[in-house]
Amino acid sequence: MKPELGVCYYPEHWPEAKWAEDAALMVETGLTWVRIGEFAWSRMERVPGDLHFDWLDRAIETLGDAGLKVVLGTPTATPPRWMIEKHPDMLAVDALGNARKFGSRRHYCFSHPGYIEQSVRIARIMGERYGRNPHVAAWQIDNEYGCHDTTVSYSPSALRAFQLWLKDQYSTIDALNEAWGNIFWSMEYGDFDQIDLPNLTVTEPNPAHVLAFRRFSSDQVAVFNKAQVDVLRPLTDAPLLHNYMGRILDFDHFKVGKDLDVATWDSYPIGFLSDRLEADEAHKTAFLQQGDPDMQAFHHDLYRAVGRGRWWVMEQQPGPVNWAPYNPAPLPGMVRLWSLEAVAHGAEVVSYFRWRQAPFGQEQMHAGLLTPNNRPAPGLTEAKQTADALADLGEVVQTAAQVAILFDYASDWAWAIQPQGTGFDYFRLVFSAYRALRRAGLSVDFISPTDVPNNGYAIILAPGLATLDSDLEHRLTEAGDLVILGPRSGAITHDFQIPATGRPGLTDLNCDVDLVETLPPNVQRPVEGGGAARHWIDRISGSAPVLLRFNDETPALMGENGLWYLAGFPDEALWDRVIEMAARETRVALNPMPEGLRRRDTATHTFLTNYNAQPVAWNGHVIDACGVAIVKKETPEEG
Ligand code: GAL
Repeated sequence: MKPELGVCYYPEHWPEAKWAEDAALMVETGLTWVRIGEFAWSRMERVPGDLHFDWLDRAIETLGDAGLKVVLGTPTATPPRWMIEKHPDMLAVDALGNARKFGSRRHYCFSHPGYIEQSVRIARIMGERYGRNPHVAAWQIDNEYGCHDTTVSYSPSALRAFQLWLKDQYSTIDALNEAWGNIFWSMEYGDFDQIDLPNLTVTEPNPAHVLAFRRFSSDQVAVFNKAQVDVLRPLTDAPLLHNYMGRILDFDHFKVGKDLDVATWDSYPIGFLSDRLEADEAHKTAFLQQGDPDMQAFHHDLYRAVGRGRWWVMEQQPGPVNWAPYNPAPLPGMVRLWSLEAVAHGAEVVSYFRWRQAPFGQEQMHAGLLTPNNRPAPGLTEAKQTADALADLGEVVQTAAQVAILFDYASDWAWAIQPQGTGFDYFRLVFSAYRALRRAGLSVDFISPTDVPNNGYAIILAPGLATLDSDLEHRLTEAGDLVILGPRSGAITHDFQIPATGRPGLTDLNCDVDLVETLPPNVQRPVEGGGAARHWIDRISGSAPVLLRFNDETPALMGENGLWYLAGFPDEALWDRVIEMAARETRVALNPMPEGLRRRDTATHTFLTNYNAQPVAWNGHVIDACGVAIVKKETPEEG
C-alpha cells in the first residue's frame, strides 16, 4: 500500500472563483484526497425540501477535474436551524435535564426517531446524486460521534428507546430485577415502563442500571450510523468511513466500525497533550510543542484494529488549534513527523485539517495549511515535505506485532461508574501499559474482546478488563503465549455484580482477589526489588506461584499456565519490570528506547520518530530534533 495525503476543505466558505486555484495548489503540494461537505446541510437545504446541490456538483467537479479524490461527508453533525422547528425535541438533554441548544454542532439525540429519519433522508439524497460520481472516492458518515460529550442523552426519546432496549435484553422484569440486584434498597420494578434514566437520583443510582444505560447509549450510536450505512451501501461502491476522536470512549468503536469499511480518526497531538492527558508538568513542558510521544501511536494502533486493518488520519493538526487551554505552535518538523508516524502505523491516508484558516466562526484561531489571507502557513511546507518523503518511501507493508493489548470500551464505562478511588481510570491504566511496551521498543496491536485474532502473539495484556468469562479466558490463552491480566480484571459480571466464582474467577490460574484497596495519588505501595503500585491494589492469594511481592510480603504478581495476574496499577518502574519478565518468559527481544524516541516496525521498514527538541543517537542512528529516520529492511518480513 502506498500512503497518500489529503486535506479538509470547505468550498461553502470561499468564493467559487477560488476553488480551482485552491485545487491546483492542493495538487501541487502533493495532496491527492480532499474531504468536503460534512457541515454544509444549511447550504444543501436552506429550507425543508428546497434542495440546492448545484454548488456541490460544481465543487466536486472542480476538485475532481484537478485530479483530487473526494471524501464526501454526510452533514448530519450539523442539522440546520429549521430542523429544530420541525423537531423541537430532537435536542440531546444533559444529566441535569437541560436541553442542549442550537448554535454550535452535534445538537441531536441519537435516539430521536424523527432525526434519524431526517439523517437517512439526506444521506439517501446525497447517495442518489453522488454515489456513482467518479470523483467521490469515499464517504464520511457524520462527524466525530461522541465529541463534545454527545453520546449520552437523557431525553424523552432516549427514555422510550432505553425501555424497549431493556425489554429486548432481559425479556422479563423479574430477570432484570435479579440481574441488577434491585432487592437492594427496594429498587424492584414491576414493569419496564417504570424504569427511568439514571440521572437526578438522590444519591448514586445502581451501577447495574447505569452500565445498562451506557451500553444502550453506545448501541444507539451504532444504530444511528448503520441507518446511514444501509441507505448508502446500495448506492455506491466507495468505502464508507467515520472520523473518530482521541480519548473518547463513550461508545464502542469496534461495534460502529463493524458496519464501516475504514476507520479514521482526528489527531491533534498538541491539543491532546494539554487537554486530555495526565502527565507531570516536566513532561508537558518537554513535549509542549510536539505532543506526547505515545498518544498518537496509541490511537493509530487502536483504530487500525477498529478498521480491521484499514485506517486513516482524517484530520491532522497542522499548526496551533483553538480549543485547548493553551495552543502553542508545533516545532518545525512536527507536522511531517506526525504524518510519517501515522504511515508507520499503517495509515492509508493522512489528511490535514484544514486547507485555509477560516476568518469567521468558532475556529477562526485554528491554523490551516494557508493563512486566512491565503499565504502559506508552516504546515503547508511540511505537508509538501511529507509528500516528497512518501514518494521516496514506496510501499509500506504492515505485519502483526508480537504484543497485543485487549481494549474494551465497556470496561471504561464500568470504572467511570464505580472508580472506587479517585485516579483509577481505564484509559489511564491501559495507556500506562502501552507506554511501557513502547519504552521497551515494541510494536503493539490492539484486539477487542469480541475479536481475538489468532496471530500468535507472544504477550497479550488485558489490564482493567471488567468482565472475563471462561470463554474469553480460553480465547486469550489460545491467542497468546502469555496473558497478563489485572489489576481489576474479571472483577464484575456483565450486569455489574461480583462474579459467583470470585474475582478474577479464572479456570487456569489459581489466584483469588480477597480484598480491594484504593490509594490516594501521593501514596504508593512498593514492590520488593523495585517499582510500586498506585491507585488500586488487589490483595491476591492462591496456589499459583508468586512472581513478585509487595514490601509487606503480599503478592504483587502471580502466574501459572501462561496466565499472570498483576495486583496493582503499576508505576513506570513496575511496568518496565513486568514487561522485562514477560519478554524473558516468551523470548521477545526488547529494544529499550531513550525518552521521546519511539520505534515502529513494519514488514518493510523500521521507523524511528524523535519527539525531542534535540537530536538523539540510538543504535548507530542519529535522529534529528523532531525528525524521523526510516530504515528499509533488507529482507522484508511476511506482511
Ligand atoms: C475536530 C472536528 C473539526 C474541527 C477540528 C478542530 O474535532 O472534527 O470539525 O472542529 O476538530 O481542531
